[in-house]
Amino acid sequence: MKSVVDLKGVVKEYAGGVRALDGIDLAVGEGELVGIVGPSGSGKSTLLHIVGTLDRPTSGTVAIAGHDIAALTDRRLSALRARHIGFVFQAFHLVPGVAALDNVAEGLLYSGLPRARRRRMAADALARVGLADRVRHRPHELSGGQKQRVAIARAVVGEPALLLADEPTGALDSASGEAVMELLHTLNEEGATIAVITHDTEIAARLPRQVRIRDGRVVADTAHGKVMAR
Ligand SMILES: Nc1ncnc2c1ncn2[C@@H]1O[C@H](COP(=O)(O)OP(=O)(O)OP(=O)(O)O)[C@@H](O)[C@H]1O
Ligand SMILES: [Mg+2]
Repeated sequence: MKSVVDLKGVVKEYAGGVRALDGIDLAVGEGELVGIVGPSGSGKSTLLHIVGTLDRPTSGTVAIAGHDIAALTDRRLSALRARHIGFVFQAFHLVPGVAALDNVAEGLLYSGLPRARRRRMAADALARVGLADRVRHRPHELSGGQKQRVAIARAVVGEPALLLADEPTGALDSASGEAVMELLHTLNEEGATIAVITHDTEIAARLPRQVRIRDGRVVADTAHGKVMAR
């Protein structure tokens, strides 16, 4: 299986001496759907930032879609990120006052595609997340669950190799959260490789693979037959 993510001995120390990641080895293969779980402060978001190339490790190696990120300049790294990675956050991060269609099209800003093409692809992505009838709605005219589906459409519109989601259901009621998770499962069945952070043990239990982090280390990984430590 081809690795989309390959981390070896990754350490991340923040200024002030916090060792947020303390030697992470993690490989995610093409087409996997991985849940990242663990207590608050255990390093989950830090890990997602490193995997998403938003940040570089203090030591260790990070390869994304076969590219060793240490070998890339910041400029090339942003290009790799724009091409290969989609992000979804707990707080949606949509542009206020801008229609859903344009929020999604923004996900293709660095693709070099002409605007009309970007908007057509954005309309398709919104249809995929079940919002074909909401393309003109601005964020404040959408429900929380719909906002998150717009954010997911924006993350997947460029068909990234990897979709990263940090607590995508954290701000949603359980029904909307359920719909968002169903959508992630569907996108995964269609071929997307996804890593999703969640606090929700029920949501995590339904994911095909769960990686548990504690104190910046992987303490359990169901892919390696380790029993989940509680
Ligand atoms: N920019 C930063 N500068 C210094 N320390 C940081 C920074 N970001 C995170 N930390 C520290 O690194 C550790 C891991 O933080 P991280 O945000 O990765 O945790 P988390 O597992 O995502 O927690 P939560 O479930 O609460 O979101 C924490 O102890 C945190 O205080
Ligand atoms: Mg976090």
